[in-house]
Amino acid sequence: MILATSFLQSESFIYVLYIIAFALFIQGLRGLAGPTTAVRGNRIAAVGMAIAVVATLLDRGEGNWGLIALGIALGTAVGIPAARNVKMTAMPQMVALFNGVGGGAVALISWVEFRHHGSTYGEHTVSRTVHQVVGAGGESISVGHAVGFAAVPTYVAIFSVFAAIVGSISFWGSNIAFGKLQEVIPGRPISLGSAQQAVNGLLVVLALAAGIDLIAGAHSELLFIGMLIVAALLGNAVVLPIGGADMPVVISLLNAFTGLSAAATGIALNNPALIVAGMIVGASGSILTNLMAVAMNRSIPAIIAGGFGGGGAVAGAEGAGEHAGTVKSTSAQDAAIQLAYASRVVIVPGYGMAVAQAQHAVRELTKELEKRQVDVSYAIHPVAGRMPGHMNVLLAEADVPYDQLKEMDDANPEFQRTDVSLVIGANDVTNPAAKNTPSSPIYGMPILEVSDSHSVIVIKRSMNPGFAGIENELYYDPKTSMLFGDAKSAVSEIAAELAQI
Ligand code: TAP
Repeated sequence: MILATSFLQSESFIYVLYIIAFALFIQGLRGLAGPTTAVRGNRIAAVGMAIAVVATLLDRGEGNWGLIALGIALGTAVGIPAARNVKMTAMPQMVALFNGVGGGAVALISWVEFRHHGSTYGEHTVSRTVHQVVGAGGESISVGHAVGFAAVPTYVAIFSVFAAIVGSISFWGSNIAFGKLQEVIPGRPISLGSAQQAVNGLLVVLALAAGIDLIAGAHSELLFIGMLIVAALLGNAVVLPIGGADMPVVISLLNAFTGLSAAATGIALNNPALIVAGMIVGASGSILTNLMAVAMNRSIPAIIAGGFGGGGAVAGAEGAGEHAGTVKSTSAQDAAIQLAYASRVVIVPGYGMAVAQAQHAVRELTKELEKRQVDVSYAIHPVAGRMPGHMNVLLAEADVPYDQLKEMDDANPEFQRTDVSLVIGANDVTNPAAKNTPSSPIYGMPILEVSDSHSVIVIKRSMNPGFAGIENELYYDPKTSMLFGDAKSAVSEIAAELAQI
């Protein structure tokens, strides 16, 4: 029994467990690269995480098991129902909340570490106190060793302080992102105007100054708490001025921050699982943030500084009536006839389809078309909707076969041989201004080139602009007909008309 316990707690066995966990993380991440393997990938990574938790508990070997069990029970009781019941459209705020918890945990661990070892920050060695006691014969006896022992290395103090600052920023920033998306606080930018950058700069300087002072050996818990508070203010000050619609990019960025702070804590605690998992989160979060920014043709600093995407504040700014061309509107009946006699139809879903929850109606429409041997596929823009993979997730929920989903680069060459492109609640991702108008804010953003197809039907409620707040030249193209209405009802009406043809 003792032999078995010491084997389970041996360093080599724990390292083997960690290596198995890392292999599963990486295998799981590979699975997330495609919709057919994503669910399996998620499960593989979850098994890896369970193994990493067991290895860490074995490694530490001691601790308050009652509190650990309580923590696991509470996390399970909150996490499982929340993940099961969350609506697909509420996924970004769920990710924000979970990400915030990660950042908060990192900041708290750093605080605990400071309480344990902070008194040795900035020291090279620490001498143990030598007590003098009086022996039985009245002689003086020294108890304890007069030798010094090593203090916490400076790099550990640096990583610990870094983790505390970044973890606190991530916790508070993620909570604000959650609040904006959940509409607990207004989605519009809330800022101090021209003073904002100066205030942010001051907070950065204060947090850094406190951190450097602590690493140098300030030995003050009050200063550490002050540093956490300044970082908390910074998290609020950075995210509050950003519009609600930019939140998915911000959440991805904060996710990368949490990963980096967790990795830093891993270095401070000498825990390889935290280092590897933290770096995976940090790296994938950074890559995703960059991909989103490139697909929107916006720089990350521009998003952080605020801009378009002020939670709908810009909608209507350049609406109908300012364009010289004319707009042709159509009816569900005419749209149904046009679709019924097409041999190839491409569906272009966008944010409006998500808002209207029209994905099931779209699937029914597709079935009606397939009955008539129409070749149907879906063209998915990387930033259609408001979160990464938004359209893929919704269409998967409606059981759209994966092989019908075409990514932008595969879809674009196909438009020239497409009879009808049916644009459902998508706007910016189809706007030719991104290619043709250098002065346009979205100039350079890659788009779905629907205007190459023989004809286009656009379903939306009005001539109002989309996220970027700009007019769409596509609507004035003679090949385009507009079907005004809510996406779900319009698509259902077309399907009903089709059934009668
Ligand atoms: P948008 O350009 O935002 O256009 C959506 C359109 O849907 C609107 O013009 C709106 O017009 C229409 N709509 C809204 N509710 C509707 C309803 N119930 N029924 C029918 N139509 C409805 O969407 P998009 O083309 O998907 O482009 C996404 C935009 O979001 C891009 O600019 C992208 O950069 C940005 N963005 C994306 C992400 C990610 S990661 N996906 C993150 C942040 C920002 P009406 O009001 O006239 O109906």
